[in-house]
Amino acid sequence: MKNLIVHAKRLLAAALLAPALVLASAEGPQLDKAPLSKDPESLKRGATIFVTTCMACHSASFMRYNKLTEIGFTEAEIKEKLLPPDKKVGDLMTIAMRPQDAKKWFGGVAPPDLTLVTRQRNSELGSGADWVYTYLRTFYRDPTRPNGWNNVVFPGAGMPHVFWELQGEQTAKITKHPDGTESIELVLSKPGSMSAQEYDKMVADVVSFMQWMGEPIAEKRKSIGIWVMIYLAVFFALAYALKKAYWKDVH
Ligand code: HEC
Repeated sequence: MKNLIVHAKRLLAAALLAPALVLASAEGPQLDKAPLSKDPESLKRGATIFVTTCMACHSASFMRYNKLTEIGFTEAEIKEKLLPPDKKVGDLMTIAMRPQDAKKWFGGVAPPDLTLVTRQRNSELGSGADWVYTYLRTFYRDPTRPNGWNNVVFPGAGMPHVFWELQGEQTAKITKHPDGTESIELVLSKPGSMSAQEYDKMVADVVSFMQWMGEPIAEKRKSIGIWVMIYLAVFFALAYALKKAYWKDVH
């Protein structure tokens, strides 16, 4: 515990001194809080980036394109800006990449479906949205990796840094401490076309959309849960009445 505090202090000091991102990896990487937004404009920007960039590799197969009307797109906009030519607005947001090809291309791992990833990555370190927000901002150059990139929260990830032209290139300074802990400091060695603030905001839009995408299903599940409870209550009442009717003559 003491180590942790010392460590946290050191991290704080480093964070104040350098405009770099500093993360510890020994106690598990620190996750940055995702500044989630419910603003339809932010969700729409996020959805556009998700469909045009992420869906080159990932599906969101529990989603349908026409569900995007719930965040403010019109069907005409969906058709014009988002829909691939071979899809209809009522179709699921699947992609055509075959898993066996994907595995070949990405060093043995296929890009997973992302519909629920912001919930699947929930952990004691932070919410799944925090994880994805940190993940998309902590890619760094690593010549030992087959695709040239590594990631602080997902070491050895098979995904390349898809936004490197926007964020620029980060390199990692890894410091091993005498107490066995290790900290990774990311330095922006080659700037991208966006400032750090612009980049964080863009990533926040994408993650806000992904959070929204995972949620409607949670809502639906809650309402299904309520119907199940009502059904059980009615069933119990009926069964009880029936039991009483059966045993009426016996007693
Ligand atoms: C060039 C293909 C490609 C693109 C484009 C891509 N990814 Fe990935 N992504 C992958 C692969 C491959 C993995 C699996 C990594 C692994 O397991 O090692 C992955 C993994 C992930 C994961 C971790 C999933 C998990 O829980 O294990 C998240 C989150 C993710 N991608 C988000 C995104 C987002 C958001 C975008 C768009 C901004 C995106 N990806 C674009 C290939 C891609």
